[in-house]
Amino acid sequence: MDVWVRSVQHDLYGVVGRPARHSFSPAMMRAAFATLGIDACYLALEADDFREALDVLERLGFRGLSITVPFKQDAFTVCGRVDASARSIGAVNTLRLTESGWEGRNTDWLGAARALERVVSLRGASALVIGAGGAARGVVYGLLERGAEVLVVNRTDYRARDLAETFGCAWAPLGELPLCRPNIVVHTTRAGMSGTPYDFTIPKGFFSPHMVVMDIVYAPLETPLLHRAKAAGARVVDGLEMLLYQGVEQLSWWLNRPAPESAMREALRRAAALAGRKVSHE
Ligand code: ATR
Repeated sequence: MDVWVRSVQHDLYGVVGRPARHSFSPAMMRAAFATLGIDACYLALEADDFREALDVLERLGFRGLSITVPFKQDAFTVCGRVDASARSIGAVNTLRLTESGWEGRNTDWLGAARALERVVSLRGASALVIGAGGAARGVVYGLLERGAEVLVVNRTDYRARDLAETFGCAWAPLGELPLCRPNIVVHTTRAGMSGTPYDFTIPKGFFSPHMVVMDIVYAPLETPLLHRAKAAGARVVDGLEMLLYQGVEQLSWWLNRPAPESAMREALRRAAALAGRKVSHE
């Protein structure tokens, strides 16, 4: 009972997913709230059934939620209102409780765009997106919104074609990768994540020093793809940068004020270093 009474005195936020317990978002958001002097509590919430979980969280008075895999489409369907980007992408990664119910946004696309824009201009750039799943949808939308030309390739051709048709960009069979000469490469699949086999073949000599290469995977921070890109002299952007900027956009929407970007970046880098040390000791 004490716990309940104490917790309702704080503003409640959290990340809902399955799994969620290894998420770096609590570290990032807690650092942000502490920096802003806001007495808020941000929890990792693992759920089996999204709607059931949301019902409980609403009754507990949660004000905002980050939504992660596999609930982004479910979150889209529970919203009374969503922004145009979420509607185009068909998924929501941010919820805010209003008097008329849950309102949703998608900040993943902004996370991808802002992470890249720190090092390269997107307007007029030619971007290759590897993968055609849920994560790729946000990345493709973001690149197109910012004026890049986008080409999608995927292990399964028809999914690349479907995605390209949805967003009005180009696609190519994987076998044509050696012919592509993009300025920007974004890898959006789980291949290369710790514990996942890396069965994606990037042709020899593909990466070059004039490219910017981003991987949305952040465990490990240097994925096999980023390792190769870096060795070829390309500029690399790791997956924590996209995580950071989608979080920066979430927080500033919840609070209606700018988010403390550098404190959030530091907290993420610390959490990743800690997780890396744990893995290496297992
Ligand atoms: P998410 O929402 O995380 O993007 P998803 O919708 O299941 O997940 O999509 C996963 C994407 O990663 C797909 O593009 C998938 O390729 P297929 O369409 O061929 O399945 C890709 N993917 C997953 N594991 C992969 C692997 N080991 N090698 C190459 N591509 C992989």
